Amino acid sequence: MNMIEMKDIRKEYPLGETVVHALRGIDLSVQEGGFISIIGPSGSGKTTLLNIIGCIDTPTEGSVKIGGEDITSLDDKKLTNIRLFKVGFIFQTFNLIPVLNLLENVEFPLLLMKEHKLSKTDIRERAEKAIEEVGLKDFLDHRPAELSGGQRQRVAIARALVTNPQIVLADEPTANLDSETGAAILELMKHLNETEKTTFIFSTHDPDVLKYASQVVKIRDGHIESTGKPGRSLKTGKTRSKAHVGKAGSTGKRRR
Ligand SMILES: Nc1ncnc2c1ncn2[C@@H]1O[C@H](COP(=O)(O)OP(=O)(O)O)[C@@H](O)[C@H]1O
Ligand SMILES: [Mg+2]
Repeated sequence: MNMIEMKDIRKEYPLGETVVHALRGIDLSVQEGGFISIIGPSGSGKTTLLNIIGCIDTPTEGSVKIGGEDITSLDDKKLTNIRLFKVGFIFQTFNLIPVLNLLENVEFPLLLMKEHKLSKTDIRERAEKAIEEVGLKDFLDHRPAELSGGQRQRVAIARALVTNPQIVLADEPTANLDSETGAAILELMKHLNETEKTTFIFSTHDPDVLKYASQVVKIRDGHIESTGKPGRSLKTGKTRSKAHVGKAGSTGKRRR
């Protein structure tokens, strides 16, 4: 199944009297269970693309389907629900809440899921389980400032996964980490992708991390330049950027 289908996505930002063309016609399909890397230089449109998939931003033109549902015509309430229930986010700068401890940071998205009305015990159990999965169960009462960069990013991964999203979006998740810590974070994301069958899409400008990806999408100036498996020559896009990426045959059971 295609988890994501984007057709001719364009995004323009007005800038003074001109307009910035951040995305110039992106066609992209991602299969469920994929571990997809979006690579491209700074300013190429990676963040814009991830924000559109995650319903943080809307395209100027084009259509986006997530799990078969067209999200381009949804109202704000429905978009908020997709952000809460279907997508998890991991950011370059971790974006943890400094006054909350590790456990409270991971519980936070579950508290926002009001429609699910989870009990306090359920919330605590799910947060503790997610924290255990990222190897931090001895640090439950620590605040973010007491943790290393790599540990903070592990907390952010636990927070992204605690709601059992279908898709995890990670915008340059290793950019603020040294290469060894960054590699460990990618290994953890890959492990969770394989065990949970959650689709991961992460952006990077570091070619070293490409070996972890099931598929690599190269973007430049808002176009898909090429796509393919890492280690092989990438298929070059023609007039319009087309890509069909994902992990073939990923029919494994999901936890939810
Ligand atoms: N809110 C915005 N207003 C105006 N221009 C923007 C905005 N966000 C991004 N851009 C522009 O869109 C282009 C793509 O940006 P971005 O998606 O952040 O690229 P990347 O994440 O690959 O560095 C850049 O030229 C950037 O300056
Ligand atoms: Mg960016």
